[in-house]
Amino acid sequence: HLVASLEVEETYIMIKPDGVQRGLVGEIISRFEKKGFKLTGLKLFECPKELAEEHYMDLRERSFFPKLISYITSGPVVCMAWEGVGVVDSARKLIGATNPLNAMPGTIRGDLAVQTGRNVVHGSDSPENGIRELALWFKEGELCKWTPTIDPWLN
Ligand code: PPS
Repeated sequence: HLVASLEVEETYIMIKPDGVQRGLVGEIISRFEKKGFKLTGLKLFECPKELAEEHYMDLRERSFFPKLISYITSGPVVCMAWEGVGVVDSARKLIGATNPLNAMPGTIRGDLAVQTGRNVVHGSDSPENGIRELALWFKEGELCKWTPTIDPWLN
């Protein structure tokens, strides 16, 4: 994914428990809003262990897996769906590198975090995973596919 796709996509973005508890919810949502993406789902949610394990199932053999699961289930997370042209890759750029010490200033992690195990936000890494993760975290009827009726210039 070196070049942003021209397709309208959807991605799953999650503010992790440290982001919620540090009072960064507004700041993080703001960055996606200001970029020009469309919010299509939003909820504060206490994630059951089984869901965290399902979400991160590709990492289950990794040494950090138990720590990752206890981190994600340690408090409420903010689950979001964002829609837009090239939103999957663009959101990953806005979020910055997994290890916040390698994340560029100007990115969410580059500005707001220092540890991989406390990196404040998750974003889907492909359009396929975006669809998979949204189906996992949102129930039927919780997403809202709305059409803007004002400010046609932004998109
Ligand atoms: S890897 O090694 O490339 O498969 O992993 P990576 O894509 O970099 O990260 C996958 C997710 O695991 C999280 N992660 C960790 N959490 C806690 N502790 C450690 N040491 C750790 N290493 C990686 C990382 O933040 C990714 O989660 P998300 O939620 O997608 O950011």
